Amino acid sequence: MALKNQFFDEIKKQLIFLVLNSTSHGFPKIFSSSNKIIKYIWIFFSILSTCICAFLIIQNIKKYYDFEVTTKIRLKPQFKAIFPSITICNVNFFTSKESIELVQDLTNVTNYPNDPELFLFESGTNLLKSKTQNGKNYSDSISKLILKCFHLLIPCNLSEFDFYFSPTYGNCYTFNPGFDSNKNLRSFDQLISTSKTFKIQGLRLILNVSVPEELKFIMPSNGAAIYIHNQTDPAAFMRPIMAAPGVSTNIGLTKTRTVQNPKPYSQCDPDTQDPSKYNSELFKMVHDYYKSYKRVICFDYCYQRLSLKECGCNQPIFPSNLKKIPCLNKTKCISKQAELFSDGNYVSDFCVPECPLECEMISFTKTISVNKYSNDAFDMMMSKKLNLSNRKISEDIAQVNVYYESLDHTEIVEFATMDFVDLLSSIGGIAGLFLGISVLSLVEILEIVLEILFLYKNSIKSNSPISKVEL
Ligand SMILES: *[C@@H]1O[C@H](CO)[C@@H](O)[C@H](O)[C@H]1NC(C)=O
Ligand SMILES: *[C@@H]1O[C@H](CO)[C@@H](O)[C@H](O)[C@H]1NC(C)=O
Ligand SMILES: *[C@@H]1O[C@H](CO)[C@@H](O)[C@H](O)[C@H]1NC(C)=O
Ligand SMILES: *[C@@H]1O[C@H](CO)[C@@H](O)[C@H](O)[C@H]1NC(C)=O
Ligand SMILES: *[C@@H]1O[C@H](CO)[C@@H](O)[C@H](O)[C@H]1NC(C)=O
Ligand SMILES: *[C@@H]1O[C@H](CO)[C@@H](O)[C@H](O)[C@H]1NC(C)=O
Ligand SMILES: *[C@@H]1O[C@H](CO)[C@@H](O)[C@H](O)[C@H]1NC(C)=O
Repeated sequence: MALKNQFFDEIKKQLIFLVLNSTSHGFPKIFSSSNKIIKYIWIFFSILSTCICAFLIIQNIKKYYDFEVTTKIRLKPQFKAIFPSITICNVNFFTSKESIELVQDLTNVTNYPNDPELFLFESGTNLLKSKTQNGKNYSDSISKLILKCFHLLIPCNLSEFDFYFSPTYGNCYTFNPGFDSNKNLRSFDQLISTSKTFKIQGLRLILNVSVPEELKFIMPSNGAAIYIHNQTDPAAFMRPIMAAPGVSTNIGLTKTRTVQNPKPYSQCDPDTQDPSKYNSELFKMVHDYYKSYKRVICFDYCYQRLSLKECGCNQPIFPSNLKKIPCLNKTKCISKQAELFSDGNYVSDFCVPECPLECEMISFTKTISVNKYSNDAFDMMMSKKLNLSNRKISEDIAQVNVYYESLDHTEIVEFATMDFVDLLSSIGGIAGLFLGISVLSLVEILEIVLEILFLYKNSIKSNSPISKVEL
């Protein structure tokens, strides 16, 4: 028994020695002060400090796990900016000579009502389109649609436009496309950039959006659809701006780049532009076909896959590498799937896990203004010049100017309000302020543990012969 006490005495002595020599404040004072009142004062304040310290450290750890972000909005000055991709379509799908023949055939065979409204709304155009998959011959050719095109006052090279087949508008042509003819991403110096913000030095287009008389009954409207998008974003998923004939449409752009911090700071996933990053079927298919990735495309794939599985057909709203089997008379099944899809549960259960959300986005803010682009004298002069007999030019011609309002772009970037280093430094600050300890003070605890172990070992070694004698 005496021996054991001796051992504990030794430990106690060592502990007191260590505490007195500790780098922390407060606790050594408790042991060193001889005056009882002072001792109690030190005990009181040491405990108070420890509590406050613990409370504040917990608060900080909680704050770290809230994953708050700070958003930084900056105007990035630039002398030169990459011009966006501009995709130009005629809003009328059927405009060519081949279309006239096709429509005549169809109206004879299927006995379509001669009421143009009915023809339009009773899926007349859908039937036509289903018969003309990839039918490039039914829409405008580039030389018909784009009468004149200038960028920086220099005529554009029409053979550098990219072709895009829109399911809604048919043939479309992209100025300054992001991919070359082999679908490889073009490098920055192959893209057209600009250092001018004057209207006349932007992209100036004169478009012939005419529709032959024989086809005008299909759709009462005419004009051009203009998509403005970043090079890697497919036009299909953008909202177009409409340009009317007889009108000059001016589109002023400012670019905004938004970058979010990936999960857990927001809902988005990192590195979605890397095709090997995620393993889902839909993600890979989108990358295969579009060579870039956006979640909206992936959701559309998800929907098409559902209707393929459930109805054996789909409505290829957007171009894709999925099987295309048009749904002509399975409206019941399709509307059931559409309902299921818009319910939201299907999307969150089956589409969201396969479709990561991208963190980076480029958007263009557009300021649109219009002015009239025709008068009788001009019409007469032009029709004489172009030999157009009595056709009014203002019914066929739309003028469009696209230009940067400012080359500077707005950058909205998120970053973590508190990262791991911030957490460490605030814990360090709190521990230092309230207890005067640091990481090295923690080594002192290790030292105490080791000291006790050594003492224990020694006591066994040195005391065992004595204990025998005592016995
Ligand atoms: C369709 O009807 C028009 C007018 O009745 C006729 O001229 C044309 O030859 C017909 N086409 C076919 C394929 O029968
Ligand atoms: C489209 O036009 C080209 C050339 O004019 C022709 O070779 C091709 O067969 C046409 N395609 C259809 C589907 O009419
Ligand atoms: C237009 O582009 C094509 C293909 O890039 C090129 O071969 C041709 O020389 C260009 N024409 C002009 C006038 O620059
Ligand atoms: C527009 O295109 C149509 C069809 O090709 C053509 O008849 C017409 O002359 C064109 N208009 C102008 C102003 O070039
Ligand atoms: C749908 O169309 C197919 C082929 O045209 C036809 O055999 C079938 O009877 C149609 N079904 C309905 C419900 O109309
Ligand atoms: C926008 O296009 C450029 C040029 O191809 C590309 O480098 C960039 O990653 C694209 N940005 C986004 C957010 O898609
Ligand atoms: C316009 O048409 C007339 C007669 O049809 C023809 O003599 C003249 O050469 C044409 N002009 C042009 C510029 O095509």
